[in-house]
Amino acid sequence: MLRTPLCDLLGIELPIVAAPMGPSISGPELAAAVSNAGGLGIVSFGANPPPLLRRLVERVRELTDRPFGVNYLLPFTMPEQLDVCVELRVPVLSTFWGDPAPYVGAAHDAGLKVLHQVGSVADARRAVDAGVDAVIAQGAEAGGHVAGGVATMVLVPRVVDAIAPVPVIAAGGIGDARGVVAALSLGAAGVALGTRFLATAEAAAHAVHKERVVAATEEDTALTTMFGGGWPDAPHRALRTPFVAQWLGRGQQDDQPVIGESSFAGERIPVRRFWAVPPSADATGDVASMALLAGQAAGLVDRVEPAGDVVRRLAEGVERIVRELAGLVR
Ligand SMILES: Cc1cc2nc3c(=O)[nH]c(=O)nc-3n(C[C@H](O)[C@H](O)[C@H](O)COP(=O)(O)O)c2cc1C
Repeated sequence: MLRTPLCDLLGIELPIVAAPMGPSISGPELAAAVSNAGGLGIVSFGANPPPLLRRLVERVRELTDRPFGVNYLLPFTMPEQLDVCVELRVPVLSTFWGDPAPYVGAAHDAGLKVLHQVGSVADARRAVDAGVDAVIAQGAEAGGHVAGGVATMVLVPRVVDAIAPVPVIAAGGIGDARGVVAALSLGAAGVALGTRFLATAEAAAHAVHKERVVAATEEDTALTTMFGGGWPDAPHRALRTPFVAQWLGRGQQDDQPVIGESSFAGERIPVRRFWAVPPSADATGDVASMALLAGQAAGLVDRVEPAGDVVRRLAEGVERIVRELAGLVR
């Protein structure tokens, strides 16, 4: 059985985290499926209006009695949104893109654990100084918004060395059990996978998004600031769709045309071209030209399947590979 100190810290069986994918892809169904399989599911977008956030947390609790988390993109977070998770005693807060310091004290006082995602050694040190319980080290292969420029293979051991004994969770480019073993070898106490869990039955991603991830190879993503509508100058990795290929490297004007509709924060809203937000499962219009965020691990994803099966296969694969590797040592 695969166990690391992260399991004890978070009260989970397997050190496998479903990385939050906002604003609604990592909904209660995906989070609960991963937690029920022994990993840690994280619901995305703590910046939802508090009543909606409350409903999301309650829904996870209907689906699982295991630990789970809620993710906060800090540039969009208001204190009252954090209060919801503190009040509801959500077991784990995950934070990204900013300084977690203002949130850690209240979270700890209420018995919550805090995971902060970083893309550099300097940010990892700052997160530890702020008192977080574990750091997610995100390599530049990752899908979604990317905090640094260093690949997972280099970033993880550097962060591990810099902040020991605080546990490090490796993220970015991990798509199968081989990647999990690699991360553990680099000193990580766990892994966080986004792109792999996007192509699961429970993920609330649009069918086009899932299909494109399955069809993509590791070469079919681009790191860009193209989808900057509402979140400018924030690098992100997205599928290199025909739309992205057409617009890469070209300037964009304000005042973009509406290309469809999506659900966002509990409302139905028009989507303008280059909007930063990936399409909801029920988005309509030119979905293939929206922000189909995904990482290079798309090359390792060849089908949509239940999230629990993904977790179990990762865990079984790790045990098999570790035994094979042990056999190499004479
Ligand atoms: C579609 C998508 C949306 C994402 N949205 C968020 C988010 O809302 N908050 C966050 O902290 N990270 C977000 N991420 C980044 C993930 O937390 C994680 O760093 C990344 O998925 C890991 O790399 P991988 O995709 O190669 O597994 C997103 C990633 C993807 C693919």
